[in-house]
Amino acid sequence: MDAQQLKQMVALEAVKQVPAGIVLGVGTGSTADCFIDALAPRAHDLVGAVASSDRTATRLAAVGIRVFDLNEVDSLPVYVDGADEIDHAFRMIKGGGGALTREKIVAAASARFVCIADESKRVERLGRFPLPVEVIPMARAYVSRELARLGGQPRLREGFRTDNGNLVIDVVGLSIDDPIALEAHIEGLAGVVTAGLFARRGADCLILGTAAGPVVYEASKTRDR
Ligand code: 5RP
Repeated sequence: MDAQQLKQMVALEAVKQVPAGIVLGVGTGSTADCFIDALAPRAHDLVGAVASSDRTATRLAAVGIRVFDLNEVDSLPVYVDGADEIDHAFRMIKGGGGALTREKIVAAASARFVCIADESKRVERLGRFPLPVEVIPMARAYVSRELARLGGQPRLREGFRTDNGNLVIDVVGLSIDDPIALEAHIEGLAGVVTAGLFARRGADCLILGTAAGPVVYEASKTRDR
């Protein structure tokens, strides 16, 4: 089974987690794209969706799902999104696709975060995947120096702007011993918009794609925070 088939598998499983009659939060990336495709036959029984990126908004509209601005919506019962890495406590690195800020906002506003991932994303310890950090352009050099002081090697994502008009710095080599503390520290640096650590608000459910089929884990049974 290849990676695309695993993504389609978890996408189909995640559709089962979407109640009828709600506004749904929808993430960004190739796994989220598979989810949107799998959701298309259910378009008629959703009120609509809030998208975590312009790309996702376009894809949702293309399959007939009404896209709402988050400010128009009182509650989001469920948010479905992928991850670049997820650990045993359902803390994640996200932002490989550059949508980390809107993803973190939609996740924060949602009652339940369902992470969909193939098994290559499951890690014992976060940090092999470069940590994306969205920054206001004038803070690029300052924030890069501060990230280097933390032990990382910051690299500007060349030729890339987020949907918010900002830059992304990808950081390799960080030692992520305490993901919640590191998330708070990086997000406390002047000029940082969002760190791609999703530890303070991790996932509530993980649907993992394996060769043996999708496995659904609930955070209450595995989370140590
Ligand atoms: C985008 C993200 C994605 O969820 C993450 O990069 C995973 O993407 P993919 O499903 O393509 O592997 O955080 O900003």
